[in-house]
Amino acid sequence: MSGEGAVVVVGGTRAIGLALAHHYADQGREVVVTGQSPDSVAGAMDELGPTARGIAFDLADPHAIARALEDVGAVRRLALVAIDRDQNNVAGYDIERAIRLVTLKLVGYTAVVGALHDRLTDDASLLLFGGMAKERPYPGSTTVSTVNGGVVGLTRTLVEELKPRRVNSIHPGIVGDTPYWSEKPAAISRYTSETPTGRLAQKDQIVDAAVFLLENGAVNGVELIVDGGWHCR
Ligand SMILES: NC(=O)c1ccc[n+]([C@@H]2O[C@H](COP(=O)([O-])OP(=O)(O)OC[C@H]3O[C@@H](n4cnc5c(N)ncnc54)[C@H](OP(=O)(O)O)[C@@H]3O)[C@@H](O)[C@H]2O)c1
Repeated sequence: MSGEGAVVVVGGTRAIGLALAHHYADQGREVVVTGQSPDSVAGAMDELGPTARGIAFDLADPHAIARALEDVGAVRRLALVAIDRDQNNVAGYDIERAIRLVTLKLVGYTAVVGALHDRLTDDASLLLFGGMAKERPYPGSTTVSTVNGGVVGLTRTLVEELKPRRVNSIHPGIVGDTPYWSEKPAAISRYTSETPTGRLAQKDQIVDAAVFLLENGAVNGVELIVDGGWHCR
């Protein structure tokens, strides 16, 4: 399949995903954003304007994904951004929350690709969001670290399975202006002091890196860290 094709942002109703959807919608591109809650999807539609449309479905219910995406046409860019973080540790392990997050990010992301597989243009590119918790766990990140590590393996198999289309993953550190972290001043202060640049990455910088991975035709199978050098410590 070739042609223009939509930009699909799964988890595009808030924070990083919404900022990425904005980037493409502001260029007049056809954008499809998805979220879990219909209200959240409606809010994103209000922000993104007439070239965007929204779909609500639960990535943690993977059997329902293909049906939810039935009306999506050709896809040229697919960004898998969604997360619903748990706070989990092996001591007192919350199995239900863990199953939900593992399903959402690993089975759900894969089921989206499976559902859209025959609609990807020949020059399509995909971007999967992981995060530096895969290498640098924080208290309560047991499941988040696990799934972000899994994103690396998933990216590699997709490079092979979807070729000649490109597939990359991005691994932010703490993104200072996203709600999950900006509401935690002690963590912001700690991670800022540990970052060599003295600044946490911001949403627009993550979008800039995401667009690079999605648009540069030679970049394939890359796991890009965007964390101000925090990983060097
Ligand atoms: N923020 C950071 O500092 C940071 C750091 C490292 C990595 N990351 C990675 O970057 C990505 C974006 O993070 P963020 O902080 O911008 O995310 P966020 O604000 O928590 O947004 C999450 C998005 O995922 C959707 N979502 C949640 N649960 C879902 C489900 N069960 N089914 C379908 N969609 C669901 C939400 O839809 P609703 O609005 O409908 O709930 C929303 O669009 C994530 O993959 C995260 O792991 C972020």
